[in-house]
Amino acid sequence: MARMPMMAGNWKMNNTISEAVVLTQEIANQYEKKEWDEAVEIVLCTPFVDLKPAKTVLDFDKVKIEVAAQNVYWEPSGAYTGEISVPMIKEIGCAYSIIGHSERRELFGETDETVNKKVKALVAEDLGAIVCVGESLAVREDGSTIEFVTAQVRAAFAGLDADEVAQCVVAYEPIWAIGTGRTATPEQADEVCAAIRATVAEIADEATAEDMRVLYGGSMNPGNVDALLAMENIDGGLIGGASLKAESFVQLIKACL
Ligand code: PGA
Repeated sequence: MARMPMMAGNWKMNNTISEAVVLTQEIANQYEKKEWDEAVEIVLCTPFVDLKPAKTVLDFDKVKIEVAAQNVYWEPSGAYTGEISVPMIKEIGCAYSIIGHSERRELFGETDETVNKKVKALVAEDLGAIVCVGESLAVREDGSTIEFVTAQVRAAFAGLDADEVAQCVVAYEPIWAIGTGRTATPEQADEVCAAIRATVAEIADEATAEDMRVLYGGSMNPGNVDALLAMENIDGGLIGGASLKAESFVQLIKACL
C-alpha cells in the first residue's frame, strides 16, 4: 500500500513576506534531496501574500516542497471583493489548499456546503484539497465523534467521483487539541482516522481509501510525532505551532524518514 506520508505546515495568520522568506530559506537549507524526496511530501500552507515569495525561494534552491493556500473561494473570478480564486493560487504553483479548517468553520462561517463547493473548485482545476474535519470537546464527550466526523467527510466529498476524491487529503483535527498542547492519544486519533478511511471506501472505493493520506493535526510536535505516525491509519500531520520554527518543523519531517 505504501502511502507517502505528508507533513503540512499550517502557518495560519503568521509571517509577513520577509519573515516567510527567512523561514522558508531556513527549511530549504536543511533539505536533503534523496532522503526527503523518497520519504515524505512536504507542504507549506502559508498566508496568500507569502505563497509567491515562498515558492520563489523553493524553486530557486530546487527544493521539492509544495506551497499551499489555507482557503480559497469557489468561483473562478468576478465581483467577490476580498476573495482569492483557485486559478489565482494555481498560477502561483500551489498544489493544494486547506479547506474547512475548524478556525474557518468557527470564526468565518464555513459550513459543510461551502467546504464541498471549495473542494469541487479545487479538483476541477486539478489541485488537491486538504480537507479538515474534527469534533469539539462537547461532541467528544457525548460520544458522537465518529458519527460527527464521518458526516463531515461525506459532506465534503458529496458529488465527487473516486478520481476526484483521490486528489484530496483528509486532516483529522480534534478542535480540543488545536493549539492547546493537548494531543489526542495515538489510539484516539487512529480510531477516527480509520473511520475516515472506511467512509472514503464507501463513498469512493477501496483503492482510493487505501491510497488516501489521512493526517492528524492538533498539537503535533517533535515529542509526540513518533507515536502518532506509528499508527496504521495516520499518514502524517497538519502542523500549526510547531511549523513556525524551522527547527521543530524539520524534526517533524525527519520523523517520516
Ligand atoms: P496546532 O495547530 O499544531 O498548533 O495545534 C494545528 C492546526 O490547527 O492545523
